[in-house]
Amino acid sequence: MKQKITYVSLESDASMHVSYEAALSGFERNFGHRYPLYIGGKGFEPAGDFAVRSPIDRDIVIGYFQEAGENEAHAAIRVAKEAFPAWSGTDPAERIGALRKAADLLERQVFDLAALITIEAGKTRGEAVAEVGEAVEMIRYYAALYEKSDHFTIRLQPEAPGGVSRSVMRPHGVWAVISPFNFPLALAAGMASAALLTGNTVVMKPASATPLTGIRLYEAFIQGGVPAGAVNLITGPGAPFGEAVTSSPDVDGIAFTGSREVGMWLQRAFAVKQPYPKPFIAEMGSKNPCIVTDKADLDKAVDGVVRSAFGYGGQKCSATSRVYVHRDVAEAYARALVARTEELKVGDPRERDVSVGPLISEAAQRTYEAAVALVLKDGGRVITGGGVCSEGSRARGHYVRPTIVAGLAQDHPLMRDELFVPLLCLRTFASLPEAVGLANETEFGLTAGIFSEDEGEVDYFFDHIRFGVCYANRQGGATTGAWPGRQSFGGWKASGSTGRGADGPYYLFSYLREQAQTRL
Ligand code: SER
Repeated sequence: MKQKITYVSLESDASMHVSYEAALSGFERNFGHRYPLYIGGKGFEPAGDFAVRSPIDRDIVIGYFQEAGENEAHAAIRVAKEAFPAWSGTDPAERIGALRKAADLLERQVFDLAALITIEAGKTRGEAVAEVGEAVEMIRYYAALYEKSDHFTIRLQPEAPGGVSRSVMRPHGVWAVISPFNFPLALAAGMASAALLTGNTVVMKPASATPLTGIRLYEAFIQGGVPAGAVNLITGPGAPFGEAVTSSPDVDGIAFTGSREVGMWLQRAFAVKQPYPKPFIAEMGSKNPCIVTDKADLDKAVDGVVRSAFGYGGQKCSATSRVYVHRDVAEAYARALVARTEELKVGDPRERDVSVGPLISEAAQRTYEAAVALVLKDGGRVITGGGVCSEGSRARGHYVRPTIVAGLAQDHPLMRDELFVPLLCLRTFASLPEAVGLANETEFGLTAGIFSEDEGEVDYFFDHIRFGVCYANRQGGATTGAWPGRQSFGGWKASGSTGRGADGPYYLFSYLREQAQTRL
């Protein structure tokens, strides 16, 4: 029987904590193995390996992973190319069945995977369980969409009586799927399953901080029935993989989620090195604003912003990092926001009552420290936070305090650049058009939120904000927490490249090309 899980909240079901904790201790007895690359269904250990350490505690070595170079990437691309004719020619119902089975397998391992995500990425248990749910629902959503749309085949107007004209959507071929550390299961699952369902073959490359979650996903695809070779997995640094996939004539598309810097490098290299234009899907972070008007329910606005700014330590591309608050309510709002922020417990995310875990790396901690120093240097104010937590066991990871700052100019780098740390900038405004203008003053365009009980203000916001994913009055997350089938998750401008959001009704088209068929 299928296990039914309420993904979003563990609070209501104590037995879930028991299952999660059992999975955690099982996993902790099992650290430190060596893991291969997977090409054509076989495990290879061709290169030197690298240790992956938990961000919770740098003394925990999760495992040793292959440091693949360009040669291994090219080998995987070759195998994926060989697998393409058979997989793209497979009855779509069979492909849908395999992906659905993979989703079921992931769901059955929900607590094991959540425990792994906690250890590998540093997520709290609530966020980790939710991520497994998101991965499962994403695959199921795409499978249902592909099935019910008859694989997007549409009859067109016949050219002559008795003839048939159709539009048929065909896969491109081999896709490189490059996924980030912050949603190591859900985002890899989304990109890879979309490519596979639609008949493409895939070479996955998980972030080098979180390869084991990528391997578990790969195993679910294979056990679900995706043939060896149709999906492959490479671990190691990004640079050689990026070199290989942008230059190989056998790569037909790249799906990437990660930083703007890497995304733009990939897009440029792919455009320059390939003999003709090929699809490139990118989701590249943001600097997400939230507007709190004088007609807002301030409690909702406090909860929503705290969750979105500090959930997973601000390491989500959807995190709120700028709040514009109406000057008439600014003082009351800031007071309540600071009070709620100071209630958050920062620490080892394996503990039940911890709300904010560690940053992923020392480099992230340096970014945080440099940002706080810059606030002070440039005349801003740190309203709360602003320090590293290094007492006790927290000295073994990169733990920092959720931080709220004010007094920075609108064009200050900290108001403009994505930091991926828990640092929230606060500014006041006098009118809604001014606030929306300030929110739009960025090259990014992923998520944006508003809190206002006035429908006219919300309408104005939706009509004038230039972001791809927009929310009003979302107490559970002002700008975070998009869910398959509920929000299409796609950035505008520097945040994305397709205009067709993941989790949404048009996403699969990004992996397909149209063929017009005219039969007389
Ligand atoms: N769904 C997640 C969010 O909205 C990440 O893609 O934060």
